Amino acid sequence: MIATALSAAGTAEPLLAVEAIAKRFTLHLQGGVTLPVVAGVSFSVFPGECVALGGPSGAGKSSILKMVYGNYRTDTGRILVADAPAPVDVATAEPRRLIRLRRERIGYVSQFLRVIPRVCALDVVAEPLVAEGVDKGAALARAGALLARLNLPERLWRLPPATFSGGEQQRVNVARGFIGAQPLLLLDEPTASLDAANRAVVIDLIAEKKAAGCALVGIFHDADTRDAVADRVVDVTRFSA
Ligand SMILES: Nc1ncnc2c1ncn2[C@@H]1O[C@H](COP(=O)(O)OP(=O)(O)OP(=O)(O)O)[C@@H](O)[C@H]1O
Ligand SMILES: [Mg+2]
Repeated sequence: MIATALSAAGTAEPLLAVEAIAKRFTLHLQGGVTLPVVAGVSFSVFPGECVALGGPSGAGKSSILKMVYGNYRTDTGRILVADAPAPVDVATAEPRRLIRLRRERIGYVSQFLRVIPRVCALDVVAEPLVAEGVDKGAALARAGALLARLNLPERLWRLPPATFSGGEQQRVNVARGFIGAQPLLLLDEPTASLDAANRAVVIDLIAEKKAAGCALVGIFHDADTRDAVADRVVDVTRFSA
């Protein structure tokens, strides 16, 4: 029998395989100056694992997450996300394929909530579940349960988050990112504006995703949070371009 290399999580199939991706920005308003950010970025994440992207401000951590989510175009390399019947390369996926991949396979908690005018917090959080086809009432119940866990006062649930405090908006954003069942979850500083009690809730939510076999890639400036959740740190400075 041929032995297969197993990950620490005990499975041979990564949920995410980043292969030699590179990113440079062309600043069209600055006479087309190019700004190389990262090159040769390679790492894999297996089910049940949380990988932290480390490195100083400006190293390219958020840019890497945005490439994995398909928000930033990738110049070279592949970003393979596990899917049936075969992995999908985010770097070359058609827009429609990318939308379906996000709905079914990739969750993303951005650093800041993108507020949609007039949509209340409960609907913002429930929306990914409704898009998955979950019954609206059940989706709203799950959204309320998550917002309660994150200590968002119930009087805010029916209000649009535009006027919420930074920490309140971040909790709405975290709830929206965690409500779905996507097996790959990308987190860009999900606890940066939170107090210790709510940071602890997010740490628990991350642990539950890991226990459920999800793969997470996160950026955590707070060392205590990183130590609590990350199985490995990938230092992005070694990919600087
Ligand atoms: N859309 C963009 N256009 C031009 N330059 C960009 C763009 N996005 C990022 N950059 C540049 O790429 C570099 C890396 O930025 P990035 O946001 O990925 O860093 P980071 O490691 O997440 O930093 P931080 O820890 O401060 O969040 C920076 O020099 C930034 O100015
Ligand atoms: Mg960043």
